[in-house]
Amino acid sequence: MIDRIRDARRRQRKGLLYPAAILTLGAAAIHFSVAPDHLEEFPAFGILFLVVGAVQLALAPLIVVLPGRRVFASAMAVAAACLLIWGLSRTVGLPVGPHPGQPEALGLADALTSAFEVLSLLFLLLLLRGSPPRSRRRWWLAGTVPAGLLLTIATVIGVVAGTNPLPYSVNMGSATPGKAIVTMADLHEPPGRQPEKDFTLTAQVAHIPIFGGREAWTYNGTVPGPELRVKQGDRLRVTLINHLPASTSIHWHGLRLPNAEDGVAGITEDAVPPGGQYTYEFVVKDPGTYWYHSHQDTENQVPLGLYGALVVEPVEGPAYDRDYTVLLGDANRTRPIQLDAKPGDLVRLRAISAFMEDMNGTPELLTLLGVQYRVIALDGHDLNGPTEMGVELLPAGTGQRYDLAFRMPASGQVRLFDVRPQTGSAEPARDWASLGEGARPELNAAMPVFDRSKPLGYVAGSLVTFDPTSYGIAAPDPVASRGRYDVSSDLFITNQPGLRYGSHLDRIPLKLIHMFNGKSFPDTVPILVREGQYVRLRLVNQTDEYHPIHLHGHVFSVISRNGRPLTGSPVHLDSILVGPHETWEGAFLADNPGLWMLHCHVLIHAAFGLSTMVSYEGIATPYVIGSKSGNFPE
Ligand code: C2O
Ligand code: CU
Ligand code: CU
Repeated sequence: MIDRIRDARRRQRKGLLYPAAILTLGAAAIHFSVAPDHLEEFPAFGILFLVVGAVQLALAPLIVVLPGRRVFASAMAVAAACLLIWGLSRTVGLPVGPHPGQPEALGLADALTSAFEVLSLLFLLLLLRGSPPRSRRRWWLAGTVPAGLLLTIATVIGVVAGTNPLPYSVNMGSATPGKAIVTMADLHEPPGRQPEKDFTLTAQVAHIPIFGGREAWTYNGTVPGPELRVKQGDRLRVTLINHLPASTSIHWHGLRLPNAEDGVAGITEDAVPPGGQYTYEFVVKDPGTYWYHSHQDTENQVPLGLYGALVVEPVEGPAYDRDYTVLLGDANRTRPIQLDAKPGDLVRLRAISAFMEDMNGTPELLTLLGVQYRVIALDGHDLNGPTEMGVELLPAGTGQRYDLAFRMPASGQVRLFDVRPQTGSAEPARDWASLGEGARPELNAAMPVFDRSKPLGYVAGSLVTFDPTSYGIAAPDPVASRGRYDVSSDLFITNQPGLRYGSHLDRIPLKLIHMFNGKSFPDTVPILVREGQYVRLRLVNQTDEYHPIHLHGHVFSVISRNGRPLTGSPVHLDSILVGPHETWEGAFLADNPGLWMLHCHVLIHAAFGLSTMVSYEGIATPYVIGSKSGNFPE
């Protein structure tokens, strides 16, 4: 009888040896995987990881072949020491290291390692005390094959996560040996005598509840931030004061400005730290509808509310009785705005698709009800001979702008809807704005009926979807019709499930990694250009998602969509919405030296790799991206 119990105990004990060994081995593997990055960042930590990994690698087989108090106790001591250091580094911060006294962000690799160490401690403790006291205990489960497989899978995930960290330090300057180097400091706006317009934008937390009950991050306390209105040719000067708990920056989306004023953290400047300030200054060359937003940790900061409209009034052009801007963004989704207009008023309505929370990048499907209207500009650039149209779907990818013009009808309202089905809501439409008084046109049976099982967008429902490549009247566009280009680049857009680290706790590391030509940022290959060159890009979307591809500092002339050249007005965009499995061609003149981002404006896609650069030869930047500097442009 006693013998049988002892036998059973021995078996149970054996059942604990293997998981304890696998856990120790798993922790060793993950420690090795993170060592190279730590060696680069802070060599002492790198060496520590290698030593700990080596010790654990040696202890793991000993647990099985030489089970005994001494081995168990040593393995426990190592695991406990690791847990202690990890706990300190994630709470109060370590006294030494690259950022002494600052807690580090929790990541998947370190969380898994610690879980392994807690479990191994437990198993080793049981082993040290002899076997589990009562057979009722199900510890033997830990020694089964499925449990072993599970631990192995967890180890692989941990190792992959450990080898794909955020970059420590990457300089995005274009390497052109032997060339005269122009640095970012040479690319500020030179002084001039233009009329000056001064603004101050204070980035601050405000008690505006937004999605998920979070507090908004705002410019001057409002979401969206204040509308900046200037005249074409003005010298715009904006001082950003940072009262946020994190560093930030302001990017001027769609504007052609000197590179050093572009507001991209780690490329054109260092992110402005909490308590700091920074002044942007540039002459506004192009009239139209633009917007501004943070370009530091963009994925998190823009959704929190750091965006606003920038309207540049033309020096000459038709006079409108009303000129309104509607900023479409998820952070202030609740209330439609009411805009005044009298019958007969000539109205210009500027719709800016600032951001939306949609993993697939499905565009807003704007519909203007109650009036015949014209699309007079896209991304701020006038269209030629825009014709009157009725109810149509206007697909607006994140970052894009539509300028609509119409005369207020003799009675009733005009309403602007987004009829794209909303995530997490049965409501198929969002009411953005209504103008005027009286009868309100409603969405009705003539409106699209969405089939949720199909990809949305251009084919949705029964309404015509506006196609910018066949609207208005044809006119010469020297950039689009060149035929020959100095630089031609194909960008294939793909995605695949994978792991990628973010800088913040709330990031889920396992997502769809997005790639240009098989590489994700910062490993994407920049498009290298020289001043004066004509550059043609072919954007080939091989995914089921929408990708509004945005170029900084330049304007695309659209050449073709799915191989068909434009039949209507020339189209000038800074953000080209490339639908699922579509191909668009665009060209631009490289006339603005610098290091310019080219990325998808679906923030989650950009943060997960869909970003690259158009880099002029011979340009250097003193700034770096990555954890060393704290600059994270995406
Ligand atoms: Cu609107 Cu790179 O951004
Ligand atoms: Cu931009
Ligand atoms: Cu995208």
